Amino acid sequence: MQDPKEYITQNKERFINELCELLKIPSVSADPAFSQDVLNTAEAVQKALLEAGCDVSEIHETEGYPIVYGEKIIDVKLPSVLVYGHYDVQPADPLELWDSPPYEPVIKKTEIHPEGAIFARGSCDDKGQMYMHVKALEYMVKNDQLPCNVKFMIEGEEEVGSNNLAVYVANNKEKLANDIILISDTGMIANDVPSITTGLRGLSYVEVEVTGPNRDLHSGLYGGAVANPINILTKMISSLHDDNNHITIPGFYAKVEELSNEERAEMAKAPFSLKDYQDALEIETVYGEKGYTTNERNSIRPTLDVNGIWGGYIGEGAKTVIASKAYAKISMRLVPHQDWKEITELFKEHFENIAPKGVKVKVTPHHGGQGYVTPIDTIGYQAASKAYETTFGKKPIPQRSGGSIPIVALFEKELKSKTILMGFGLDSDAIHSPNEHFGVWNYLKGIETIPYFYKYFTEMNR
Ligand code: BES
Ligand code: MN
Ligand code: MN
Repeated sequence: MQDPKEYITQNKERFINELCELLKIPSVSADPAFSQDVLNTAEAVQKALLEAGCDVSEIHETEGYPIVYGEKIIDVKLPSVLVYGHYDVQPADPLELWDSPPYEPVIKKTEIHPEGAIFARGSCDDKGQMYMHVKALEYMVKNDQLPCNVKFMIEGEEEVGSNNLAVYVANNKEKLANDIILISDTGMIANDVPSITTGLRGLSYVEVEVTGPNRDLHSGLYGGAVANPINILTKMISSLHDDNNHITIPGFYAKVEELSNEERAEMAKAPFSLKDYQDALEIETVYGEKGYTTNERNSIRPTLDVNGIWGGYIGEGAKTVIASKAYAKISMRLVPHQDWKEITELFKEHFENIAPKGVKVKVTPHHGGQGYVTPIDTIGYQAASKAYETTFGKKPIPQRSGGSIPIVALFEKELKSKTILMGFGLDSDAIHSPNEHFGVWNYLKGIETIPYFYKYFTEMNR
């Protein structure tokens, strides 16, 4: 294959500008205030796929936000790659913590990104990474380098649980038939330490409500005599971990996959500096489950974390009050073999059980999904590995990630194909946080590496 580098260098400015245009549209799927922007983004993606060389590019309506579908079929006898990505983004709040407005992309140099990084909500998760595939297709089509068929499925509800995508996939199995699914929506270890994500954690996300008295009360007149829902809620939450930071929900660990010592030793070979990790977060020390390393805690072990907690008076000054209700949002990250629906049930049962008399507890599940692990002895993994080796000059390390893309397990179930996770973001890119960014180098490296995946995957399939 002809080296994509020259084409990328010639078109670099345009590639960056096009991505910036996409980043200007605030496609926040969680907030209905942005619904028109989400729809506009779908249209922009549809147009971009056509311009990049898809023969078909359509907007497929769902009960929620639409799915953008595109394809270029050059020969039905050749393999087909299905690219998945998402055009929706997380809310940008808290806005005041952004150094520049989240939907006005700017390029700034950082220590880790000396060639500059694009700062905007969605730059890394996932518009920038999704758009690498659009530009890689453009390169292959315009230079007669596309070796196989390609299909695109870009959704607008990943950040809110992909509920409608599940229905869409089940109803369009034939249309989506493929030999491999390719996703760039994860990260890699470092720019000089390429890695391929071989695992994702599952997820169960719940909201809890604790109700005490039927109305807010004077904390002097009633304080000490009735259950304070906020006191109770925090006590209940803290009881969910023991002194070793194990989760106390009965049955929670029953199906957890235990890695062999060999597998753990293999994992520990990935370069990692605890000091850099701590320094980057300005923490004195890490924290977590006893008996496991930091990289184990954030990938092969399940977790339970409060994501938000509220209730009572949080305005200016002091108000003496005992609230009637207290709330929390809780996420549980799950590992292979744990079933998210079962874990959600276990949580609900346990949380209701530990509630003292004097309060009522309501547990509402939000969304969830299964974890995923992919073997490395497949053609797909080998093709990806060779592609990285070609463009990075070294073999990538297989690495399990702590994040979740719940739809991946469903793809395997419905479409019977494996997923390759070629992520080019870095953990320090601040996805979901203020000042999210994506290295220009990473963006271009992705565009350069993807065509080699197509080439090797097609060759290895012969
Ligand atoms: N792209 C992320 C997931 C991710 C990021 C995986 C980095 C591995 C490395 C995705 O957009 C995401 O944020 N997923 C959510 C779950 C979803 C159901 C809201 C998550 O992991 O919190
Ligand atoms: Mn994502
Ligand atoms: Mn995300």
